[in-house]
Amino acid sequence: MSNPNGFSACPPSLRRLEGKVAIITGGASGIGESTVRLFVRHGAKVVMADVQDNLGLSLCKELGPEETISYVHCDVTREADVEKAVDAAVSRYGKLDIMYNNAGIPGKLDPSIVGGDCENFRRVFDVNVYGAFLGAKHAARVMVPARSGTILFTSSVASVSCGESPHAYTVSKHAIVGLTKSLCVELGQHGIRVNCISPCAIATPLLTNAMGLDKGTVEELVCASAVLKGVVPEPEDVAEAALYLSSHESKYVNGLNLMVDGGYSTTNQSFSMALKSMLYK
Ligand SMILES: NC(=O)c1ccc[n+]([C@@H]2O[C@H](COP(=O)([O-])OP(=O)(O)OC[C@H]3O[C@@H](n4cnc5c(N)ncnc54)[C@H](O)[C@@H]3O)[C@@H](O)[C@H]2O)c1
Repeated sequence: MSNPNGFSACPPSLRRLEGKVAIITGGASGIGESTVRLFVRHGAKVVMADVQDNLGLSLCKELGPEETISYVHCDVTREADVEKAVDAAVSRYGKLDIMYNNAGIPGKLDPSIVGGDCENFRRVFDVNVYGAFLGAKHAARVMVPARSGTILFTSSVASVSCGESPHAYTVSKHAIVGLTKSLCVELGQHGIRVNCISPCAIATPLLTNAMGLDKGTVEELVCASAVLKGVVPEPEDVAEAALYLSSHESKYVNGLNLMVDGGYSTTNQSFSMALKSMLYK
């Protein structure tokens, strides 16, 4: 049976996160929101951490009682906020199994290094990298003594394929892959897995606002440039990857940057496109 969120209803025997406790940063919108919905459907207790209080609180109201889902105001660039979010998960639900550091910003579309906006660079790093570092730090604080847990990050296709996103964003997403790999070594010693997911362009508010285009137009552009034809990438595709990396099915997967990009980053078609336009002009 299908539902308005795009996910199938999940019978109790098929719930893959039953009894797990998760924090999802940037959970009020886009990929984070989709992951909140999917994790709740799979039996997890979820703390949604974001700065968009109205969106977060209304999603909580829609999805269930406070025994299942709650919202904390958490600016991921503020250590006290992140510490509070982790403590809220432990005090409300008894533990923390999954920390999904997903909050992110694109920063300004600033293509030239010469005219680079230094404040913008710092801000992008503050949210995308320092925020993720803080999330991992405070998750590890409670996961290490428990000797279990899973830490996830949202990186981007920009972590492997350069030149299409602003410098600050691209570099911040490379840093997330580095953080994933560095942490997987240390935290693996404590039975904690660390992985990241790299989505391609998906028409969430982050992208539509950054491009100043409506959802339909962004999807059209994404599909026209896609390697894999016939599907429109959606936040739910990333949520499914997060579910896999958070569940028992991935129990030996550690240090992975999982591309959810329909194969986009495997190729660079600029040469054949230039050739075609030369031959057929
Ligand atoms: N949409 C895409 O095309 C795309 C592609 C690759 C990677 N990503 C990454 O996916 C992640 C989620 O983005 P999205 O596309 O769902 O965008 P979105 O804007 O829909 O959601 C991002 C959420 O992060 C929150 N956020 C921003 N700054 C925050 C802060 N300081 N503290 C707490 N929360 C904060 C926002 O309020 C928002 O709810 C980001 O890390 C983004 O870089 C997105």
